[in-house]
Amino acid sequence: MTGDISKILLSCEEIDRLTTEIAENISEKYQDGNLLLICILKGSFMFFSDIVRKLSVPCEIDFMQVSSYGCSSVSSGELKILKDISAELNGKNIIIVDDILDTGCTLYNLKKYFLNVKKAKSVSICTLLDKPSRRKFDIKIEYKGCEIPDEFVVGYGLDYNERYRNIPFVGILKREIYEKSE
Ligand code: IMP
Ligand code: MG
Repeated sequence: MTGDISKILLSCEEIDRLTTEIAENISEKYQDGNLLLICILKGSFMFFSDIVRKLSVPCEIDFMQVSSYGCSSVSSGELKILKDISAELNGKNIIIVDDILDTGCTLYNLKKYFLNVKKAKSVSICTLLDKPSRRKFDIKIEYKGCEIPDEFVVGYGLDYNERYRNIPFVGILKREIYEKSE
């Protein structure tokens, strides 16, 4: 499986360092509590569990699964909710935790949903990876692991056709893997 990786982008040690840093920043900001972290399935499940176990402040957790389609530079597409959260949001500060910010379409729509439909008190974004070169939607990331080049990456939760999620590091997938199946 790791033979399909052309380069390691984030080693387990780097992931450990980045998640510790992010968790410390979140803990510092939310001393007053009322914090709800939302894991966006499936890609952020490993990142999410690393972040929450490194927090030093109390928090609630919940899970959501979405798919975005019809995203383009002129339309923000539609957010299809496959699994919604069950927690009540009144007065809570929310942090949406996702694996990667690519065009920004998914998180742009999710943030709108939590503010306008669910009436969250505040919504912040936390992602492990950021591909700024592909951004189409103007969205602020409050907590970010690192920026990466425009390459398709897998591992540490991220998949290609549901494979590679269980690799413990983040690596660039060899082009021949996805080009041959296109
Ligand atoms: P966006 O809506 O374009 O920002 O897409 C974000 C979603 O696309 C992420 O949550 C991932 O599921 C997926 N994605 C984007 N780039 C990659 C990648 O390099 N590897 C795996 N999944 C990716
Ligand atoms: Mg995803």
